[in-house]
Amino acid sequence: MGEHRIAAIPGDGIGPEVLDAGLKALAVLEEREPGFKLHVETFPWGSDHYRRHGRMMPDDGIERLRAFDAIYFGAVGDPGIPDHVTLWGLRLAICQGFDQYANVRPARLLPGIAGPLRDRVSGDVDWVVVRENTEGEYAGAGGRVHGGLPGEVGVDVAVFTRAGVERIMAFAFELARTRPRKLLTVVTKSNAQRHGMVMWDQIFEEMKGDYADVATDKMLVDAMTTRMVLKPETLDVIVATNLHGDILSDLAAALSGSLGIAPTANLNPGRDAPSMFEPIHGAAFDITGKGVANPIGALWTAVMMLEHLGEAGPAARLMAAIEAVTGAGDVLPADLGGSATTAEVTDAVCSRLVGG
Ligand code: IPM
Ligand code: MG
Repeated sequence: MGEHRIAAIPGDGIGPEVLDAGLKALAVLEEREPGFKLHVETFPWGSDHYRRHGRMMPDDGIERLRAFDAIYFGAVGDPGIPDHVTLWGLRLAICQGFDQYANVRPARLLPGIAGPLRDRVSGDVDWVVVRENTEGEYAGAGGRVHGGLPGEVGVDVAVFTRAGVERIMAFAFELARTRPRKLLTVVTKSNAQRHGMVMWDQIFEEMKGDYADVATDKMLVDAMTTRMVLKPETLDVIVATNLHGDILSDLAAALSGSLGIAPTANLNPGRDAPSMFEPIHGAAFDITGKGVANPIGALWTAVMMLEHLGEAGPAARLMAAIEAVTGAGDVLPADLGGSATTAEVTDAVCSRLVGG
């Protein structure tokens, strides 16, 4: 049990609503766990900041975050500002600035949740998508010339480095090792993309001998989508490029019931800079301000943050409270088939934290 400094960045859309929910649950945990203390500082960065100052965060934003033990992030995006501006100005700036190279996205059918896969129950979908988070298709390399002319050209270059691929694979192998099934599936598109993707396959082959206790297999990303739907029980840990991991993790979230429950950790595994924790869902303008956003994504994200901070006890307690609420099934938000508000779901989780 220790004290931890948390930077909270609620951001845009429903970000502030769900982050409030998560912080409320964390405050309840603090009260019942002697010696466990969070010092939370909130940073009002995002699209409103951009409208006022022309930047998503201040120039020294990264430096101000560096002293924290973790960053708890809501969502970012605005109907009035191009997505690539909001994304690169805040979330990607933090991920890349702090070398958070491992994007970890567990997907699991929680108790009581009927996902879209017929007859599937808790346990059939139990995956962790490990998404490379600093390079690949999101490297930002490319360019655009001859704007507006018939000969206009736009090029996005996916950049894969041996060091970048080796470190994400090592992370994924280590993670697979800690899981009961110890299976790691590498995803590429090495039939069509014959350079970087072939290098991924090759590095995977080179490394797997070092992890003899981990079973391995490989899939092309298109075939992977069908396997996730048709044979979900055959998968465990999945390692994929930045873009493939982005797409597969949305599919994984949907197959486990809703995008609204899915958590993410953007990890700097070497811990030489803070890691960032955020729900997968975005700003969701259609429901912003209505008080009906599903807080479970932010709550499960808080579990991941606690695990990273070494707080296994509070993490397990919060996860158990979330699962007790989904299992009971009487207080569920709209995306999980219920009619409870954000506050009602949060209170249901918090009351189980107090009682449990
Ligand atoms: C995610 C999101 C982001 C991404 C968007 C908001 C750019 O989809 O976290 O998966 O593609 O990384
Ligand atoms: Mg995504």
